[in-house]
Amino acid sequence: MATSHLFVCIILCTYYVAHGGDEHGGFATVLTSRSFQPEAAVCSTSRGGLLRCSRARANYITSQGTVTTLAADDGANVTIPAHLGGSVESLEYVVTVGLGTPAVPQVLLMDTGSDLSWVQCAPCNSTACYPQKDPLFDPSNSSTYAPIAGGGSQCAFAIEYGDGSHTRGVYSKETLTLGPGVTVRDFHFGCADDQDGSNGRYDGLLGLGGAPESLMSQISSARFLALGGAPPAGANTSGGFVFTPIRVEVATFCMVNLTGISVGGKQLDIPPAVFSKSKGMIIDSGTVITELPHTAYAALRSAFRGAMSAYPLILPPPNQGLGTCYNLTSFSNVTVPTVALTFDGGATMELDVPDGILLEGCLAFQESGPDDLFPGILGNVNQRTFEVLYDVSHGKVGFRAGAC
Ligand SMILES: *[C@@H]1O[C@H](CO)[C@@H](O)[C@H](O)[C@H]1NC(C)=O
Ligand SMILES: *[C@@H]1O[C@H](CO)[C@@H](O)[C@H](O)[C@H]1NC(C)=O
Ligand SMILES: *[C@@H]1O[C@H](CO)[C@@H](O)[C@H](O)[C@H]1NC(C)=O
Ligand SMILES: *[C@@H]1O[C@H](CO)[C@@H](O)[C@H](O)[C@H]1NC(C)=O
Ligand SMILES: *[C@@H]1O[C@H](CO)[C@@H](O)[C@H](O)[C@H]1NC(C)=O
Ligand SMILES: *[C@@H]1O[C@H](CO)[C@@H](O)[C@H](O)[C@H]1NC(C)=O
Ligand SMILES: *[C@@H]1O[C@H](CO)[C@@H](O)[C@H](O)[C@H]1NC(C)=O
Repeated sequence: MATSHLFVCIILCTYYVAHGGDEHGGFATVLTSRSFQPEAAVCSTSRGGLLRCSRARANYITSQGTVTTLAADDGANVTIPAHLGGSVESLEYVVTVGLGTPAVPQVLLMDTGSDLSWVQCAPCNSTACYPQKDPLFDPSNSSTYAPIAGGGSQCAFAIEYGDGSHTRGVYSKETLTLGPGVTVRDFHFGCADDQDGSNGRYDGLLGLGGAPESLMSQISSARFLALGGAPPAGANTSGGFVFTPIRVEVATFCMVNLTGISVGGKQLDIPPAVFSKSKGMIIDSGTVITELPHTAYAALRSAFRGAMSAYPLILPPPNQGLGTCYNLTSFSNVTVPTVALTFDGGATMELDVPDGILLEGCLAFQESGPDDLFPGILGNVNQRTFEVLYDVSHGKVGFRAGAC
């Protein structure tokens, strides 16, 4: 991975920052009025399932031409506010950056699960591009835009994501403004004019994976990139974090090993062999719902249903892919078990109650597949209110609760 000296810190905040209830012995009571309303227009309603918002496992990226590493101003600390994409009808996290000269604001999906960034570019009609929040980015209006040429002709790019969507267009470079005074010259990205699949109304995607096409690699000389919050004052960036080793796979994915799950303060009885047999978990801000391998998911679901037996399950579940949903309309408050994920080395994430556990009244986990076939994915719902610090040079990732 090229980002050997870069710290990346991603803080995902929900709209509701305060804990709303009592915590007692592995359970927390929360008021339903606050906690179970959709926080953003859900991609599932019109596009057939939250699953389809998942972007992990980008299948391939084709782009010709070499990517030269370039500089944000040396030693710059970059902070970009991130927020849930409610304004762009997405349950994913977005950031606003400036593209071009003069800089035009662009609302981009933050995706640690893919690499090449792209925006929809003019000219593009309503058949080839989806409707977005802002006017299409118009390269002809920018004095710093250039297509990247290879062998005398423009390079094309094409990305197919794990959710079946694709984006294609012209591989390009442009000035990217991340914040006041922080610009990345010759930022390599895709100027897209051929889209297919589910998207919110965001203007494009910011690829934060580990491959050379990613923003991370392109600004690897910056010391600290904070998406969603400032680096903590005083600069002991490891204080308060619990760390677990990461490995980087297919250049893009940061993988961690899950070793245990607890529900309501009780460790689930999952044989260690299950975890060693599974392929680990991808940390992915671009995926909404966490996916666990079969045995781990089944144990979690069963314990969670047991702890929530006072509430009526909705069958069949309204949310495709989410098998455990409750009808909470007649309850003024709900007592939810805490859920904690433990990773290699003992690092434990106590998920936020309820925002890290329930999504619209459904257990915010799903099954990735057989234990030994697919890696799990740590999606953004469970990362909410956590600060996630990727310390790539030391091969570890840290989690810190209560970041919002
Ligand atoms: C939209 O653009 C595509 C590609 O340029 C073209 O094939 C298609 O006919 C256009 N559709 C309309 C409705 O103009
Ligand atoms: C591009 O520039 C033209 C002429 O200055 C202007 O009318 C148009 O609104 C600009 N388009 C965008 C998308 O900025
Ligand atoms: C970046 O942050 C580090 C640690 O917080 C600090 O020591 C350094 O002065 C900052 N650099 C700039 C350019 O603000
Ligand atoms: C930073 O904090 C961690 C954990 O609290 C501590 O172990 C480490 O010594 C601190 N580092 C510095 C430079 O103060
Ligand atoms: C995770 O587990 C696998 C297989 O048990 C092992 O090879 C790997 O080193 C472990 N750690 C990480 C960070 O992947
Ligand atoms: C949820 O419960 C309410 C009141 O108990 C009931 O009227 C409603 O039909 C239930 N909805 C579903 C989807 O089961
Ligand atoms: C929760 O609701 C129950 C009745 O359903 C009520 O007795 C209790 O006082 C409520 N607790 C809180 C913290 O609102």
